[in-house]
Amino acid sequence: MQTTQDIDTLRATISAWRQQGLKIAFVPTMGNLHQGHITLVEKAKSVADKVVASIFVNPMQFGANEDIDNYPRTMAADQEKLLAAGCELLFTPTPSIIYPKGLDKQSYVEVPNVSDGYCGESRPGHFRGVSTVVCKLFNLVQPDIACFGLKDYQQVQVIQTMVEDLSMPIEIIPVATVREDSGLALSSRNNYLTDEEKKIAPALAQNIQWLAKEIVNNNDFIGLAKQAADYIDNAGLKTDYIHICHARTLQPASEDDKELVILAAAHCGKARLIDNLQVFL
Ligand code: PAF
Repeated sequence: MQTTQDIDTLRATISAWRQQGLKIAFVPTMGNLHQGHITLVEKAKSVADKVVASIFVNPMQFGANEDIDNYPRTMAADQEKLLAAGCELLFTPTPSIIYPKGLDKQSYVEVPNVSDGYCGESRPGHFRGVSTVVCKLFNLVQPDIACFGLKDYQQVQVIQTMVEDLSMPIEIIPVATVREDSGLALSSRNNYLTDEEKKIAPALAQNIQWLAKEIVNNNDFIGLAKQAADYIDNAGLKTDYIHICHARTLQPASEDDKELVILAAAHCGKARLIDNLQVFL
């Protein structure tokens, strides 16, 4: 696996592949890779000839109160995992390579509506940072396909909408969430959980499951979501939000909607956990 920080080297390697008519799939990450990321690389490998990954802890998607400096960085272990999973090219830029003029002077991409609520509300500016960096990475890599984990369901909708709205010729493949046996969704943020917190963290996924069963026969979506929030809080977490939404627009679900998603976030100690479940009625 070739690893480079350099944009010209990245472009030269990819352009040589393109000249050979090879199909390229891309997996953007912020590193600290776990089985969820590796599943993305494996999916990418199964649908393309060459897999490109990136590791970039994107300062634009962190809020002023969020501790980017302590975000886990595990480059050597990540490289080993990517190599074993079949990645051929890894791009590891620094912030000054991605944002040479600094964040304040950087043009940005904003995707309205789907970015607005839920994590967009709890983390102002987060999705602007995500859509901007993903747009920029897409322009650098120019993949045919890009794989994203459904654990970040709202992020997938933001990126899918950006690709459609800006006519980017890239197929977005959403990949199912990988979970521990307890149901807890794998996340780099699980590293922040103590042993005690690990025991209660699965309450988020468990209550989403409960809610998914309830909404099949009861369309009091707001009342049921409130009940689920109470159960999550009673388990020792602190619910940030839990909502039943239209699966594509992410607007609050109406009783006529058939394709729904439950979106939820909760604090567990120092970790802010997010999770979701699609429900087809
Ligand atoms: O999901 C992530 O790891 C990040 O939000 C992404 C898509 C790599 C953009 O920085």
